[in-house]
Amino acid sequence: MSIYLFKSIMSVVIILLTTISIYTMFEIFGRSQVTVDVRKYKKIHKVTGFLYITIFLFVSYFCLYYIFISRTELTPRSNLHSILSLSIPVLFGMKLLITRVYKQFYNHVNIYGLLIALITFGMVGSSAGYYLIVSRAGTDISFDKIAQYKNWAASQKKGGTPEERAFPAGPESIARGENIFKEKCSFCHDPQSTENIVGPGLKGILKNPELPISRRPATPDNIRNQLRKPFGRMPAFDYLTEEEADDVIAFLNTL
Ligand code: HEC
Repeated sequence: MSIYLFKSIMSVVIILLTTISIYTMFEIFGRSQVTVDVRKYKKIHKVTGFLYITIFLFVSYFCLYYIFISRTELTPRSNLHSILSLSIPVLFGMKLLITRVYKQFYNHVNIYGLLIALITFGMVGSSAGYYLIVSRAGTDISFDKIAQYKNWAASQKKGGTPEERAFPAGPESIARGENIFKEKCSFCHDPQSTENIVGPGLKGILKNPELPISRRPATPDNIRNQLRKPFGRMPAFDYLTEEEADDVIAFLNTL
């Protein structure tokens, strides 16, 4: 299962917990006459809060690990997601302090709860929500493939475990990519250096942080974009099939 699908499933749980927390908060603070058993709702509220933060920490670990192995700059969307996520433990901590220590602020504690709920929706929307849209609710695998390439590229850089190196698009894919490259790209691009022929030399193209001309992050999907809707004067290679594009990327990854 890809990290994105995993995060999406966890996010559904997080949204559920958040909804339950808001509901119990309303029951605890909202009624003018206390007709309900407030203690029962407080208990539920505590349990959902505890589950929420446990899942949050668990998923955060995977996210941080993913950033670590892919070693790429975060996209604007991931940055927004990280900032929203980082504010959650801070608000959570403050809320705990208010309920345990700084009880003078207790009247405001519901604001913290609402803020956490709002930020949760932003956090989930900017990650799992995005994934579910671009992958057609997890049914389009090309997105996962790109993620696999990134992992694979990262494992190539640091040696990697044998399983990581045995990425399915391994040697055969690279060989096919090399042929396509010779046929279609080498006229304008030198694979052995960064010298310009017509376009820039592509040595180390996926090892650098940025692509040489557009300065976009050097990721497989940006190379794919370059083939489909090229930046600058390069002709488009939109007739290459998905597999052929994958093969070219696998080859570029070895440069
Ligand atoms: C007719 C010449 C030509 C061919 C053929 C060509 N390119 Fe390019 N390519 C260019 C030029 C020119 C640029 C730089 C764009 C600019 O300066 O406007 C470029 C830029 C690039 C970049 C860097 C893009 C960036 O964002 O910085 C990549 C990667 C690339 N080409 C890959 C390929 C691959 C892979 C192929 C083969 C499928 C290919 N090119 C075929 C001319 C070509």
